[in-house]
Amino acid sequence: MFNLRFVKDYLLYRFKAKTRHGTHSPFVYRLVDKVIYDFSAKKVYNEVENIRAALLKDDRVITVTDLGAGSRVNNDRQKKISGIATSALKPPKLAQLLYRLVVDLQPNNIIELGTCLGITSLYLQKAAPNAKVYTLEGCPETADIAQENFKKAGATNIQLTTGNFDDTLPEIIDKVDKLDFVFVDGNHQKQATLNYFEWCLPKVHEGTLLIFDDIYWSEGMKEAWAQIKAHPKVTVTIDLFWIGLVYFKTDQAKEDFIIKV
Ligand SMILES: C[S@@+](CC[C@H](N)C(=O)[O-])C[C@H]1O[C@@H](n2cnc3c(N)ncnc32)[C@H](O)[C@@H]1O
Repeated sequence: MFNLRFVKDYLLYRFKAKTRHGTHSPFVYRLVDKVIYDFSAKKVYNEVENIRAALLKDDRVITVTDLGAGSRVNNDRQKKISGIATSALKPPKLAQLLYRLVVDLQPNNIIELGTCLGITSLYLQKAAPNAKVYTLEGCPETADIAQENFKKAGATNIQLTTGNFDDTLPEIIDKVDKLDFVFVDGNHQKQATLNYFEWCLPKVHEGTLLIFDDIYWSEGMKEAWAQIKAHPKVTVTIDLFWIGLVYFKTDQAKEDFIIKV
């Protein structure tokens, strides 16, 4: 993943990115100041990180079914849970940023594409305990481990659906009146990402936040991010390099922000 192109994109991002002081939009200034740059420790972080720590020591081997961007090379493969926890999960810094974004937004519903072992699902659920949380995962054995973790954490209101996003996402979108918070963290391919975005559009509203992971992962993902930013329904976007935030607020001028994290 850390090829020359990626490093170049990262350096370019660092060069262009601003802190809250370079931001003239009061909406974005507050978000950066109060939410993105809130680096204070929180008790809930330890609760979820203890579960991650156990996964990092878990020697059980499962069969991983890969329906994502790597599926052309990997199909079913035997993997140690500790290995998956090392390579596939959002690091604490990003998972905790997602937590704060949800605390701030207080959505009624949350959809996550890519449960994996359930770490970010737990952060999202703990940030809005009364929200309906739908998390989608293509690999049944990985999903079983996530369910174990939800049980361990007492997060009984997370609804995990197993299957290809192509089938499960439209089903969940059909179930809700409108979409409040969607986190796309799986299948980082251009067309798939654009499909997920398009499928969400009929149910987005003033308060919706869509988050796309790995917007610089490949040329295709960069193109998908550029198309999402340019969409007429999208007003504010915030590029945090590792993830991109997309808002549909009609009282905001159309503007793309690049913020240093
Ligand atoms: C990066 S991991 C998610 C990590 C998780 N959000 C976390 O940080 O705790 C992506 C997950 O998406 C799943 N996935 C990828 N493509 C998929 C697809 N087309 N349908 C269903 N699941 C898919 C993979 O099996 C993998 O577990």
